[in-house]
Amino acid sequence: MGKMWSGRFSENASTLLDEFNASLNFDKKLYQYDILGSMAHAKMLGCQGILTDEEVNSIINGLEKVRSEIESGDFEFNISDEDIHMAIEKRLTELIGDAGKKLHTARSRNDQVALDFRLYVQDHNKTIRKLILNLIETLISVADKNKETLLPGMTHLQHAQPINFGYHMMAYASMLKRDYERFESSYKRNNLSPIGCAALAGTPHPIDRNATAKELGFDAPTLNCLDTVSDRDFALEMLFNIATMMMHISRLSEELIIWSSSEFGFITLSDAYSTGSSIMPQKKNPDVPELLRGKTGRTFGNLISLLTVMKGLPLAYNKDMQEDKEGTFDSVETAEISLTILNEVIKTMQVNKDKMEKACMVGHLSATDLADYLVEKCSIPFREAHFITGRAVALAEQKKCDLSELSAQDLQSIDERINDDVTDYLSIRYSMNARNSQGGTATSKTAEQIEYLKSWIQSIK
Ligand code: ARG
Repeated sequence: MGKMWSGRFSENASTLLDEFNASLNFDKKLYQYDILGSMAHAKMLGCQGILTDEEVNSIINGLEKVRSEIESGDFEFNISDEDIHMAIEKRLTELIGDAGKKLHTARSRNDQVALDFRLYVQDHNKTIRKLILNLIETLISVADKNKETLLPGMTHLQHAQPINFGYHMMAYASMLKRDYERFESSYKRNNLSPIGCAALAGTPHPIDRNATAKELGFDAPTLNCLDTVSDRDFALEMLFNIATMMMHISRLSEELIIWSSSEFGFITLSDAYSTGSSIMPQKKNPDVPELLRGKTGRTFGNLISLLTVMKGLPLAYNKDMQEDKEGTFDSVETAEISLTILNEVIKTMQVNKDKMEKACMVGHLSATDLADYLVEKCSIPFREAHFITGRAVALAEQKKCDLSELSAQDLQSIDERINDDVTDYLSIRYSMNARNSQGGTATSKTAEQIEYLKSWIQSIK
């Protein structure tokens, strides 16, 4: 059998062209969406009197058969069929004869591929959102157990102020909530059906785009056919949403790597999610977070690559657009496995509270608290308080201890306006709990954030 479009050609296509032109090797991933789309299209053609009921039934049964052949591995993929759309249609026609040739009435591969690809993106949007929620739930549960676990909060990777580990986990949970919402809003915006747009300008056949839209779970048909067959914004949004989410995952991964080093020792990754070295028997490496950090780069690349493919294209469909798929599949698969494995890594990691709390005794984390104390309790102007605190830090350094370990007498030797109760204000736990403004780190405020996100999850489940 020659090519479906071979009518106007007198020479056969070269095999080199087949290899270069075909998308079948990768777009076969779209088979289930292609079949669903064709079934909906055939049913609509039947309802509109364009196909007979008999033809519609024969097409539906034939497509079921094609699906089971693909799923059982019996389907013969041949790149001379070019893409999944033509491979399925050709096999359908082999199976059911002439009715198969009528399926493409009022349709083009341009709206067909726009439909299949959009169904793929929408479907995986739902999967990714579920996985994000699982990860948020895991972060919340770690946070809940660690809302009193002291941790040095950092800026510039230098000890800054004491926080608690739960609060740190909740920072990532908050990022992932925004990620979830980005996927959700893209889903809503793009839940419109491309089928029936035909090649670029619609069709003279009396089709019903509302019927196919409804059948396929879309809210409505798209507005303008010329736009629809050349629009890949829905994929670009997916790529951007994934890239941003992976950037968050990568930052968390970076912290997991740092925290699991001997220098920090804040967490111990489970053996099940660590790897060894082929030469150094003692090594236990954080390969999973390293790979998460590394894979983030390719999701950025996939976004830039599709933006670049699209930027110079005149309306409407251009074959350049066939380049939309591999990067998108790659980002989607990367996102799904990354969310799944990160969830396991967080679930199984050990939190070394003592190491975290010990680290809080380095770096005079309660220095800001001493300055605040001097202002509030001793009526000392802030600039002066800042200077006195600097002197106290110097004294602690000289005594080789932390500021929080100085006695009231030590501090009174610097400034006699300081009262005996000063040491209460300098403990690390006091300092953490003192930051009880909205969104702050205090255990009570961390608990509020946990409750808020828990009820948010309940509201969308
Ligand atoms: N394989 C093509 C793609 O992925 C399908 C659309 C082809 N349309 C066309 N007019 N050549 O973009």
